[in-house]
Amino acid sequence: MTIDPAQPYRLHPQAALRPEPFGALAYHYGNRRLTLLRSPELVALVEDLERHPSIGAALAAAPIAPARHRALTAALDSLAGSSFLVPAGAPAAEVGTATPAPFAGPAPAPTRGTTMGDQLKAGLLAPICLTWEWTYACNLQCVHCLSSSGTRDPRELSTEEMKAVVADLEALQVFYVNVGGGEPMLRPDFFELVEHCVDHGVGVKFSTNGGLLTAEKARRLAALDYVDVQISLDGIDTATNDAVRGDGSFARARRAMQHLHDADFGPFKISVVMTRENVPQVDAFEALAAEFGAELRLTRFRPSGRGTESWKDLHPTQDQQRFLYRWLIERPHVLTGDSFFHLSALGEPLPGLNLCGAGRVVCLIDPVGDVYACPFVLHDEFLAGSVRDPGGFGAVWRTSELFTGLRQPSSPGACASCGSYDACQGGCMATKFFTGLSLDDPDPECVWGNADDLLAEAEAAGAAASFVPTTDHSWSPVALGRKPLRIS
Ligand SMILES: C[S@@+](CC[C@H](N)C(=O)[O-])C[C@H]1O[C@@H](n2cnc3c(N)ncnc32)[C@H](O)[C@@H]1O
Ligand code: SF4
Ligand code: SF4
Repeated sequence: MTIDPAQPYRLHPQAALRPEPFGALAYHYGNRRLTLLRSPELVALVEDLERHPSIGAALAAAPIAPARHRALTAALDSLAGSSFLVPAGAPAAEVGTATPAPFAGPAPAPTRGTTMGDQLKAGLLAPICLTWEWTYACNLQCVHCLSSSGTRDPRELSTEEMKAVVADLEALQVFYVNVGGGEPMLRPDFFELVEHCVDHGVGVKFSTNGGLLTAEKARRLAALDYVDVQISLDGIDTATNDAVRGDGSFARARRAMQHLHDADFGPFKISVVMTRENVPQVDAFEALAAEFGAELRLTRFRPSGRGTESWKDLHPTQDQQRFLYRWLIERPHVLTGDSFFHLSALGEPLPGLNLCGAGRVVCLIDPVGDVYACPFVLHDEFLAGSVRDPGGFGAVWRTSELFTGLRQPSSPGACASCGSYDACQGGCMATKFFTGLSLDDPDPECVWGNADDLLAEAEAAGAAASFVPTTDHSWSPVALGRKPLRIS
C-alpha cells in the first residue's frame, strides 16, 4: 500500500478533477496521466481530504457506509500510486505548484447506463481526447495522409479565433489537445499558440514530421511545461519511410529526434502508422525509441483522406494483425491511442477504452474550425458544426445532432452473433465508412474475416472510390512510390 491511512493527504497541485456523470476524470499535468474516478462518493472524498488530519478521519466524516471504506481506501491508494494524491505536508518544491483552472462547464447530468463502457458511450461533458488540426499546409504529401494536407486553406482560423477556441477548451477543462494538421509548425504563430494553450491550462501534445524542428526550436520546446512532441516515422529505414512520407523525410525526422535529445527535451514520442511494409520492423522501432529514451506509439492505418487510395496496398495482412496483437499484449508500455481495439477480438483485451469514441469521448477540430466526430472522418457525413457557430465549440459538443445521435445505444448489426462483440464492438466507424461498408457491418479488418466478402463486393462496385475526402488540400495527385517533398 502506498498510502498510510493515518496520515493526511491532498490532491496533487498539478492534478485536476473534471466532473462527469459517473464521477470525475482526473488529469495530472505533471506526469500526463489520465484516470477515471468511478463514483461521486470517491470524488467528494478526494476533494474533502485536505480538510482532515488523516484519510481515516476523512472517511469517518463522510456520509459513506463503513462497508465501502475498504474499497475507497484501495481507490485512494491507487490514486496515490500514480501521484494524484500526495502527503499533505509535502513541500511545494517536491510536488510542483501549478494550479489548473477549475471546471466552468455545465453540471453533470445523472449517470446514463450501468457499466463504465455504457457511460462513456453515452458521451462525456467534454472530450477526453480532442485532436486539433492547426493548418492544412504541409511540407510533405504523405500517401496515407488522413487530412489530405498540402496547401493552406484561406479560411484557416486566425490567431485570435484560435485563442477563442482555447478559452472554450479551458472552460470545459479539456486537459490537453492533440495538435496535428497539416504540419502545425508551419503556422507562423505556432509558438504563440502553444504558449497560449499552456498558459490557459490546456496541455499540448503535438505531432510533427520533424522537417521544421531545428536545434533552436527543440530548445524552445524543452523550456515549456505541458508540451509533448510526437515525431512521425513510417519506416525504420529511408526506403520504407520515404515511400510513404516522401524523399528525405526519414533523414529529417531522425535529425529532429536528435535535436530533441540534445536539447534534453525528455521522453518524446515516435509515432508510427502500421502498414504492411513496417509491421516486420516493430522490434527495430522499439530499439530506436530506446536509443533516444523516447516512447513508441503505434497507430492503426485508417483509409481516410489520401489513405482511401493507399489503404488497399498498405493495410496489414491478417497474419500481421495476429502478430501485432501478440506483440502489443506483451508490451503494455507501447502506446496505441486505443486504436487497435478491433484486435481485442483475438483474446485478452488490449489496454484502453476498447470502443469507438467518435463524438462520445473524442472529436476533431479542423483548421477552418469545423468539428468532426473523430480525426479519421473528415467528411460531410461526420461534420457536427463549427467553432465559428454561436456558442462555439462547447455548443457543438453538447448539442450537435450528429453527436447526440452517436451517443444513443447502437445495434451490433451484422456483428450480433459474434462471440467477440464485447471485446471488439464491431470495430472502427471510419474504416467501415471509407471502404464503402455500412456502419453496422463488421470492421473491414475483422480478425475472423467476417468482412472479407463485403469488402470484395464494395471494391468490385467501386464503393470506396465515391468516398473522396470532403476537403482535399493535396498540391497534386499523390501515389505510393511518387513522393514529392518540400521543406521551407
Ligand atoms: C495527419 S498528421 C499531422 C501532423 C504532422 N504533419 C505529422 O505527420 O505528424 C498526424 C498523425 O496522423 C498520422 N496519420 C496520417 N494518415 C493516417 C492514416 N490514414 N491513418 C492513421 N494515421 C494517420 C500521421 O502519420 C501522424 O502521425
Ligand atoms: S501525415 Fe504527412 S502529409 Fe499529412 S500532415 Fe503529416 S506530414 Fe503532412
Ligand atoms: S464480427 Fe464484428 S464484432 Fe466480431 S470480430 Fe468481427 S468486427 Fe468484431
